[in-house]
Amino acid sequence: MDIFDQVNALMSEIQQFDTDNAEGLESFRIRFLGSKNIIKPLFSEIRNVPNDRKKEFGQKVNALKQAADEKFKSLQGQLKASSDSNIEIPDLSLPGIPVANGAFHPVRIIMDEVIDIFRRIGFDVAEDREVEEDWYNFTAMNTPEDHPARDMQDTFYVQNDPGRLLRTHTSSVQSRVMTTQKPPIRIIAPGRVYRNETVSARSHCQFHQVEGLYVAEGVSFADLKQTILYYAREMYGPDARIRLRPSYFPFTEPSAEVDVYWGLKDETDYRITKGTGWLEILGCGMVDPAVLNNCGIDPERYTGFAFGMGIERQAMLKYRIDDIRLFFENDKRFLSQFSAAK
Ligand code: DAH
Repeated sequence: MDIFDQVNALMSEIQQFDTDNAEGLESFRIRFLGSKNIIKPLFSEIRNVPNDRKKEFGQKVNALKQAADEKFKSLQGQLKASSDSNIEIPDLSLPGIPVANGAFHPVRIIMDEVIDIFRRIGFDVAEDREVEEDWYNFTAMNTPEDHPARDMQDTFYVQNDPGRLLRTHTSSVQSRVMTTQKPPIRIIAPGRVYRNETVSARSHCQFHQVEGLYVAEGVSFADLKQTILYYAREMYGPDARIRLRPSYFPFTEPSAEVDVYWGLKDETDYRITKGTGWLEILGCGMVDPAVLNNCGIDPERYTGFAFGMGIERQAMLKYRIDDIRLFFENDKRFLSQFSAAK
């Protein structure tokens, strides 16, 4: 049998080979594709082939190798499919199951924006407890027990413990921070607060505030005003205007409420600004010397300003939400509509 016949015989052997088990396939692999396979030595036989047939021979041997490769792969595939045949193969033409992306809560989005804005000018974030002692929430903040200002905020007290309550404002964090840190103090305190109010579209028994406090030597009302203006421009755009109205809070003197000019572009603007175009966004003032004193800070040496803002109100403005209760119902259809404008 000349060398060409040998190659032809091997080719028909490969073509006719069949097996239904792994052992048969393995012996095929060893014979034709293993490290000592039968095709390999044929390549060196080429030097014994007459010159005019070298090319033909080379092509045949290559074809042999390729046929062995293909046969092996196809038998391997068949074996695998038959061993998998009792596994249910999914219908790949069905539409996929969409991945449900989470969304940020609108309160979280606005709160993060506020935090970001004040971080950029050096305010640190301070957080503290929601179940608070009366002293930090009221007394230290210049609102002693029989003070009429306690009526400004209806309080949830802890049952059988009149000294403990759900904080009515994040101003409680002011006294927490001032009793434990030395000036200069520059913090914002974001968090949830509680008031015993009838739940309606406009008010709720829980909401969020961000408190600000800056205590150092020589802090002035001008610093306060400029800080608030900076905030308003970052939050509401470079053309935002603010106005300060004299007000009263027990813990600040003088005190002010700040409005931002929202405009009167449509009917909703009329409704939410009561026809004035101005919207109240926060309360603020110079920290009352009595508060500094209560917290062990020398009011002769230090002055400070403070402010507190509601978050839901600003989220309602920004997203045109007209019912505060939506923030607390966790209805996914509502919550999935907001995305952080980062
Ligand atoms: N705590 C006040 C409230 O909840 C808001 C407030 C007003 C906070 C004036 C302040 C401030 O820090 O200086 O209504």
